[in-house]
Amino acid sequence: MDFIELKDNAEKELEKIAKSSELKSFFDKYLGKKGEIRQLFSLVKELTEEEKKKLGQEVNEFARNLEEKIAELEKEIRRKEVETEEGSQSLDVSLSNEKIETGHLNPLTLTRREMERIFELMGFSVVDGPEVEDEWHNFDSLNIPEGHPARDALSLGKTYYLKNGNVLRTQTSSAQTRYMQAMTPPIRIVIPGKVYRYETTDASHEINFYQIEGLLIDKDVSVANLKAVLRIFLEEFFEREVEIRLRPSYFPFTEPSFEVDMLCTVCDGKGCSACKRSGWVEILGAGMVHPNVIKNGKLNPKKWKGFAFGMAIDRLAMMKYKINDVRLFHSGNLKFLKQF
Ligand code: DAH
Repeated sequence: MDFIELKDNAEKELEKIAKSSELKSFFDKYLGKKGEIRQLFSLVKELTEEEKKKLGQEVNEFARNLEEKIAELEKEIRRKEVETEEGSQSLDVSLSNEKIETGHLNPLTLTRREMERIFELMGFSVVDGPEVEDEWHNFDSLNIPEGHPARDALSLGKTYYLKNGNVLRTQTSSAQTRYMQAMTPPIRIVIPGKVYRYETTDASHEINFYQIEGLLIDKDVSVANLKAVLRIFLEEFFEREVEIRLRPSYFPFTEPSFEVDMLCTVCDGKGCSACKRSGWVEILGAGMVHPNVIKNGKLNPKKWKGFAFGMAIDRLAMMKYKINDVRLFHSGNLKFLKQF
């Protein structure tokens, strides 16, 4: 084959190539060690110096040109192949590394999962309760009698009532008696989930937020156990030493009831704007389960005791990630979400 013929053939063949396997044989045929172009050089010997030089230059240029074309075609073929079944099975590390947008978990999800992980390590099971509740589970069973302000839809109680008489649960406590009835003690559960309150939103109030409820029922349970579980949980959650205090409070479903405060982690109790100069931050509500609630759970309060606690996941997420407005969680604001 002379040079003109070779050039012609090569160009025609190249045009028809559609697979990388064909491209490889093409490369071998022309540019390979025993390829046509090499063979051309062996003919060159018979030419004059002048002709040798001229042809050599031309052939070299042609070879370089051909290599470029092959490389270009290869990229194109690979791109097409990756789109098809055959090609997508192999990973092409030479493809462009344009950044691919990945999704982010909402900090509330991250916080909930972290809480679940810690409670599971402490022997609690993670369980679920319905968001649409009947009044009995959300109120009556929890020793919240009719006429109690917490039941009032428009004033203090902030309850969303549905037309069929059910409510959107205002607290995850509503699942307490469900599990008491369904399980045989000892019971150790946490119930994370969404709760609803009819109220004006601001930086620290949402009509829709998340709580995690804890319930432990056993024979010999004391406030000291409650305090220990909460302190260990908070230390693991905040990854630091934590000091807590129980302040007497009132919840209809616990007796005694407590508000649990944590020594402010920003100022270590000295008093700063984060703790409103008090040195303490309110974290959650808790107490020893009221005998009436145990009865409503179809257990014998003479035999079984327990403690319960409930905290807002949103609030703990705000503390952990230093977020100053609860409304950001549901804002869909990508600038906010991309940080997590
Ligand atoms: N359900 C209460 C609330 O929504 C929080 C709470 C307080 C839960 C005391 C408890 C508890 O289990 O013992 O504010």
